[in-house]
Amino acid sequence: MEIIRVPRIMQDTSKTFLLHGKTIGFVPTMGALHDGHLSLVRRAREENSITVVSIFVNPAQFGANEDFNIYPRDLEGDTEKLIKEKVDILFLPDASSIYPEGYLTYVNVEELSEKLCGAFRPGHFRGVTTIVAKLFNIVKPTRAYFGQKDFQQSVIISKMTYDLNMDIDIVVCPTVRDKDGLAMSSRNSYLDNSQRQAATIIYKCLKETSESIKSGIIEIKNVKRFMLDFLRKEPLISEIDYAGIYDISSLEELSAEKENMLLAIALRIGNTRLIDNMLINIKEERKY
Ligand code: PAF
Repeated sequence: MEIIRVPRIMQDTSKTFLLHGKTIGFVPTMGALHDGHLSLVRRAREENSITVVSIFVNPAQFGANEDFNIYPRDLEGDTEKLIKEKVDILFLPDASSIYPEGYLTYVNVEELSEKLCGAFRPGHFRGVTTIVAKLFNIVKPTRAYFGQKDFQQSVIISKMTYDLNMDIDIVVCPTVRDKDGLAMSSRNSYLDNSQRQAATIIYKCLKETSESIKSGIIEIKNVKRFMLDFLRKEPLISEIDYAGIYDISSLEELSAEKENMLLAIALRIGNTRLIDNMLINIKEERKY
């Protein structure tokens, strides 16, 4: 695996691959890689001739009181994992090459960036779309891979790609879960044992709500109340940012049934903010 740190060298390398008719599969990450990331890497390898992974803990997507300084970093472990996965290139820029002094340009997808997590993390998605647009310009991928766990992020990045005529396929891959259902996340490492156990309520809530909707036990207009009542049974939850059912494109809260719907939750256990979601396709479920 080649490690490239300089954006210009990454660009030139990608240009050469593309000139030779290769396709580039790209997995942007902030490191602390887990099986969720590795599932994206495997998919990228299956579908492209060259696989590029980036690791960059992007300061622009963290708020002033968020966890940028303590965000887990494990470059040695990450490098080993990526070599095992036969990744071709690890792009590892430093902050000064991405945001040099005098940096002024930001990309923002309006409206969608203000909804759900955006309402609780002002500026977060502006930071995400800025870094992803820059990485796309540097790595020049044919396809880029994101996890469904960050569903809102994938909707926003798909919209940015479409609106800015970026010729890149955005591939959204299923959430990878631990055996007890907790969605894999680098932030799970912040949880102690009892918090880790408490966190399993998130997936339980999504499953129970999804099943209750499909079997007609709850109406869409009552879903939010149902989810909040379910989550409030767990005393270690310190705050619920949101829980409810949303349109999969506009991310607006729903009050009536649609064919495709998104159940989504964001909450805190102690200081750790966790998110998860589940898609519901009513037609597929109700074949009667
Ligand atoms: O999902 C993430 O890890 C980050 O938001 C991303 C896409 C790598 C941008 O920093």
